[in-house]
Amino acid sequence: MSNRVYIKTVGCQMNVLDSEMVIADLKRNGYTVVDSPEEADCVLYNTCSIREQAEEKTYSALGTIRQAKEKDPDKVIGVMGCMAQKDQELVFKRAPYVDLVVGPGQLHTIPALLDKVRGGEGRQMAVSLSRKAGSQLEIARSHETFDPLRDPTMRPTPFQAYLRIQIGCDKFCTYCVVPNTRGPEQGRSPDQILAEAEVLAEQGALEITLLGQTVNSYKFKHEDGTVTDMASLLQRLHEIDRIKRIKFVTNYPKDMTERLLETIRDLPKVSPYLHVPAQSGSDDVLKRMKRGYTVADYMAMMERIERILPNAAISSDFIVGFCGETEEDFQKSVALVRRCRFKNSFIFQYSVRPGTKASERLEDDVPRDIKARRNNELLAVQDEVAKEDNLKFVGKEVEILVEGPSKKGIKNDEGDQLIQMIGRTSCDRIVVFDGNRRQAGQFMSIQIDDASSHTLIGRVKTVEVVSLGSLV
Ligand code: 5AD
Ligand code: SF4
Repeated sequence: MSNRVYIKTVGCQMNVLDSEMVIADLKRNGYTVVDSPEEADCVLYNTCSIREQAEEKTYSALGTIRQAKEKDPDKVIGVMGCMAQKDQELVFKRAPYVDLVVGPGQLHTIPALLDKVRGGEGRQMAVSLSRKAGSQLEIARSHETFDPLRDPTMRPTPFQAYLRIQIGCDKFCTYCVVPNTRGPEQGRSPDQILAEAEVLAEQGALEITLLGQTVNSYKFKHEDGTVTDMASLLQRLHEIDRIKRIKFVTNYPKDMTERLLETIRDLPKVSPYLHVPAQSGSDDVLKRMKRGYTVADYMAMMERIERILPNAAISSDFIVGFCGETEEDFQKSVALVRRCRFKNSFIFQYSVRPGTKASERLEDDVPRDIKARRNNELLAVQDEVAKEDNLKFVGKEVEILVEGPSKKGIKNDEGDQLIQMIGRTSCDRIVVFDGNRRQAGQFMSIQIDDASSHTLIGRVKTVEVVSLGSLV
């Protein structure tokens, strides 16, 4: 039986990492990866539930694959990830030709379940327990991950890797589906994380990005009662020689402690880049979101960052049009963006998620067109401050890790001439310059000549030629 698998991934970095793991697992079970669903014997969709739109896109992709399945009934169609966990049987109802539904805590079962489907045992489903369906321990166990399996070939670049340090979330923000789909917050053991980081370093990773829903809340309780927190974990990871840069996402404002900020300051490989979603600039909205902080708390955190890490770049997420958000509330989000001058912000229109507190108790009362207008307005202000701040880099030199050709570079690549390359500073600023593919994976100094709200535009700093004689 031929074993060709195609995987389509949408959603956050956790999903990118999960897909890498599933592929590593399948490869060890004799599968090869192909580039299109047409060539594949098994088509897997790694899905996202964070907003309705993400789910609708997946259901529409499933609609498209239906014809291929009708032509070739042996083609296995699998749905994995958050939407699989959230919708469970509903996936089979909405797309009856799906063979496999696997939640994010059960991904290790995929090879065996594929065997069952292909062996004629019919549809298979593996999902974790819901948040009230057992003891704390049983629920947590049902969401366990199988992180140590890695496959560098599945990464966008071999020298950058994600490393999960925490799974799940216990914050239960009222709009958010993640505590249901990814289960209780669990810090992975530091020994396991360190061992995995060593493997990544051996595989050539220069930059690792630590992943968790509230990554700075990371804690692991050892059997002797001692606790490893995020600061201690960073100190240990910092000692791995071959790893040159350490980033982490996503942060929770309340847990951005002085101790953690001072640790970041004292560890040169740790990027002074902090993604700390504010979600709203209005105390009333934050309260309804049950975020656990006020705008004053958020500003106090910004002050701590400014004092301890004056050159840090901060980015944020905002939800516009959350239940009951008035124009005045919204203008407070605009004001917060102006005050905090985020490097960038991801802005989302509120979307009701079944199973969340907001869906049960609050009315989704902001009309669509107003959500869209607020989205555009906030984005325009965010772009304005980002452009002003990016322009301050003009004339300066920055160090970047080169990632590869930019989209434009790939399009114009005809051989040997210079193409547009893309890289990132330690503060996560995107830099483009004319260079060549061989520079991917190198740290380089770039002189910045221009900037837009999302990008710094520069050129390779000319190296002084000491002796021309040696070149001829
Ligand atoms: N509607 C819109 N945006 C949401 N987010 C989370 N849940 C929702 C929702 N129901 C946003 C938050 C979060 C980001 C990953 O997605 O801003 O930080
Ligand atoms: Fe969702 Fe809030 Fe947890 Fe983030 S902290 S994953 S927004 S519940």
